[in-house]
Amino acid sequence: MAGTFDNPEIVQEEVDILLIGGGMACCGAGYEIVRWAEAVKAETGKELKIKLVDKAALDRSGAVAQGLSAINTYIGPRQDPADYARMVSNDLMGITRDDLAYDVGRNVDDSVHLFEEWGLPIWKTDANGVRHDGAEAIREGLPALKDGGEPVRSGKWQIMINGESYKWIVAEAAKKALGLDRIQERVFIVHLINDKNDPSRIAGAAGFSVRENKIYIYKAKAILLAAGGCVNLFRPRSVGEGTGRAWYPVWNAGSTYSMAAEAGAELTMMENRFVPARFKDGYGPVGAWFLLFKAKAMNAYGEDYMAKNKEMLNDYPPYGQAAVPASCLRNHLMLKEMKEGRGPIYMDTVTALAKLRETLSPKEVKHLEAEAWEDFLDMCVGQCGIWVGENIEPEKKMSELMPTEPYLLGSHSGCCGIWVSGPTDVGAPTADDPEFAEPDVPSHLPRGWNWGYRGMTTVKGLFTAGDGVGASGHKFSSGSHTEGRLAAKAMVKFALDNVDFTPEFDETPEQIAELIWKPVRNYLQHKDYTTAIDVNPNYITPKMLQFRLQKIMDEYVAGVATYYNTNDKMLAVAEEKLEMLKEDAEKMRAKDLHELLRAWENYHRILTAEAHMKHIQFREESRYPGFYYRTDKNFVDEKNWHCFVNSIYDKKTKKWTCFKRKHVDLVDKSKLFKPAQPH
Ligand code: FAD
Ligand code: ADX
Repeated sequence: MAGTFDNPEIVQEEVDILLIGGGMACCGAGYEIVRWAEAVKAETGKELKIKLVDKAALDRSGAVAQGLSAINTYIGPRQDPADYARMVSNDLMGITRDDLAYDVGRNVDDSVHLFEEWGLPIWKTDANGVRHDGAEAIREGLPALKDGGEPVRSGKWQIMINGESYKWIVAEAAKKALGLDRIQERVFIVHLINDKNDPSRIAGAAGFSVRENKIYIYKAKAILLAAGGCVNLFRPRSVGEGTGRAWYPVWNAGSTYSMAAEAGAELTMMENRFVPARFKDGYGPVGAWFLLFKAKAMNAYGEDYMAKNKEMLNDYPPYGQAAVPASCLRNHLMLKEMKEGRGPIYMDTVTALAKLRETLSPKEVKHLEAEAWEDFLDMCVGQCGIWVGENIEPEKKMSELMPTEPYLLGSHSGCCGIWVSGPTDVGAPTADDPEFAEPDVPSHLPRGWNWGYRGMTTVKGLFTAGDGVGASGHKFSSGSHTEGRLAAKAMVKFALDNVDFTPEFDETPEQIAELIWKPVRNYLQHKDYTTAIDVNPNYITPKMLQFRLQKIMDEYVAGVATYYNTNDKMLAVAEEKLEMLKEDAEKMRAKDLHELLRAWENYHRILTAEAHMKHIQFREESRYPGFYYRTDKNFVDEKNWHCFVNSIYDKKTKKWTCFKRKHVDLVDKSKLFKPAQPH
């Protein structure tokens, strides 16, 4: 019987492997897993049941929804994945897992080659050094990347694409591999279920349809949780008429981090955040401008603040001394200008385009000027609206830059996420070294970095990829796809190794359904108490609750209101207010399925926000100046804090435990740094 709003239908399904999310990581996993599952079937006759569940529709879901104009991670045949791991480490102030970054680096090109094979147009440079955009390169018969074609590099690691339909292309390949009957769209997973007999093991997941009155409960032996990062936990700069605009995709609401935490998975580096410097109000990307157009940013008085303030980098050895200073330090230098009243900050698009005219042919200049617009049309169409609305022609008028509100993610220029098992074949073969030796597993990685299955969290059977994998970063679209593929392979192995395991839930389907439907019950029970449905002493709307969360985070946990400053006292206030917010969150209402979605996004955001706050509180230094400052500990303390900060959440007591994990460099980082500058 079809469900009703007050009596939703409960649909139960049993699978071997469940993929949660339909973004780059899950599309990679969906493509890869079928190949291994078919091999298993051919060899053993066992057919693995697989399902992919996305909250949205695969063709346009996740961070690549609008398209992209660059693939930010492509190593190419002439670069060393170890150098890529070095760059990742430097950009994230030295605390990353080299094993994970190196593993992405050595595998990522294969995904990019697949994208090209599936139809993604990639810019190419011909034998005369002339650049051609994707379609032209195909017309000219220039070779594919895998056959030695030369991409147009915007930066050392980035290549240009015509990527408006990037997500369609990648999703199509995943759909073709999986088959449509193994994909379920518009189901929002909100709750992971542990195994009754082994609480450290995953047994399933549950969610609801955002279109029908249905609750879905899946039993699974292995789960890939790759539901992106977290947006809108801080008050955004876009309020009032601009509400709804954000840099990060609005549907990734911290599900990955909160559900993993509730299932008992160890999180890592949740203090890290990304504060992108972006074109003001439209959140348009800057990478192409800095890297491809070689534009400079300046203060309102025409001063190049990166040059003017470069001595500030010496406060942060060795990271300040790298050839390309870390993203947070670039913000740090910009913020000085803003705080001291020399804003607005501008991207000098006029000089950059004029300079290009000096060296490029008129045809190439025209192409690049078109690209200035296409860069936004490909991935951030709203910025074109701003340019048009404000009469900005980039060759004639500069555009303002602004650091945005903070976002939490693990695949772009951030590294928060979940602690996972690394690859089994990299690292130092130092079996005798107590730092490395681990009982029963290969001893090449530092203690606690590997427990057999690449991408598995500390919860048995629960895997992650992309934004979910912490302590790495700079994987971007291609690297997230790659991590999804690596996880898929490991999951098939896990499912086979656990073929006799039968998951059993530690909750009943009825309990799960009641938990999910609680905001609806709050509404139905109290709606007739008042005449205006939004005004009611017995419930709070998800929208209002979200405003409260954003206000707390903005004002006490280093949002834009305080120029990203916080301290131990402010964090203590935040802690208390978040506790009260959690109490009130129990009273969130859902008057329809859309509000139920909003309510659950808030539950996920609150737990994610709490993890972020607890980690900042625990790490007694300011590791990411320009992203956040603890003004009571406004320094990087290499001696005491050159380590991972990890945490575990106990869903029974609702308490977090933060702790340090030792950091080990697996690739030599000295190559990155210039000799120290005199202060
Ligand atoms: P996503 O691709 O974001 O996918 C998350 C998926 O999870 C979505 O399908 C979503 O619908 C689903 N989901 C969320 N919550 C749930 C839930 N509870 N239940 C079920 N499903 C859920 N990379 C580049 O290479 N080049 C670029 O130019 C570039 N530009 C970028 C610009 C922006 C604005 C952003 C945000 C990212 C950019 N990236 C770029 C990075 C790239 O998009 C990400 O690294 C990549 O998409 C991460 O993959 P993912 O699978 O982890 O997350
Ligand atoms: S995007 O995702 O919207 O394209 P963004 O524009 O920040 O991101 O950056 C694209 C790529 O350029 C990323 O690899 C980023 O690290 C790099 N990048 C951006 N700005 C700079 C800069 N000023 N110097 C060096 N690299 C940069």
